[in-house]
Amino acid sequence: MKLFIDTADIEEIRTVARWGVLDGVTTNPSLFARTSGRTYDEVLKEICQITDGPVSAEVVADDLDGMLREGRHFAGLADNIYVKVPMSETGLEALSHFRAEGIKTNCTLIFTANQGLLAAKAGANLLSPFVGRLDDINQDGMIVIRELVSIVEIHELESEVLAASIRNPLHVTQAALAGSHIATLPFKVFQQMIQHPLTDKGIAQFRSDWDKARKALEQSRDQAAGARAGA
Ligand code: G3P
Repeated sequence: MKLFIDTADIEEIRTVARWGVLDGVTTNPSLFARTSGRTYDEVLKEICQITDGPVSAEVVADDLDGMLREGRHFAGLADNIYVKVPMSETGLEALSHFRAEGIKTNCTLIFTANQGLLAAKAGANLLSPFVGRLDDINQDGMIVIRELVSIVEIHELESEVLAASIRNPLHVTQAALAGSHIATLPFKVFQQMIQHPLTDKGIAQFRSDWDKARKALEQSRDQAAGARAGA
């Protein structure tokens, strides 16, 4: 499963890239709103210099002409831009236009397998079901991931399932086991995946045993040297 980071924060993206586990980036208007002092275009261009993987840039227009104008503009910023289009009748129409123009897309705000199926048929390269927001309303968001992965496999569709609105490490494991092609995670979830108290305890124990062994060796060498000097 490919791992994307779900953020517009450049430092978070650089950090995960340095770890060697970054396959792409997803942004949206809410994530961009948390950055300051720069335009969305400037942020997107910098992200595309950090990673060669897909970088999703979301349209905000709700009419077809606006979606197409914004999407074409984003696609012109870098080769690895994927235009993110929300699920709707107009969104489907925009996706099919983008497919005809060879512009890569990510259909977002998917909450059912049927929405995902329609997006795939309209030509979306990536299908983004929102797991956490379904969990929030007491529905098992992972069911949509499992259903959509099966539909893509059974019908040999070309789209990839991108598990989005991931809120915790368990979501990541479950998405991977469900066969999701991609999951996009907040930076905090990447950090949570790394951490385990037994790992920390084990590192501390190895360090302390190593230090003890070195001290014992130094002492026995000192004693031997002292004995030779006294002989
Ligand atoms: O990837 C979609 C994501 O940005 C939405 O996450 O936590 O706001 O539901 P969340």
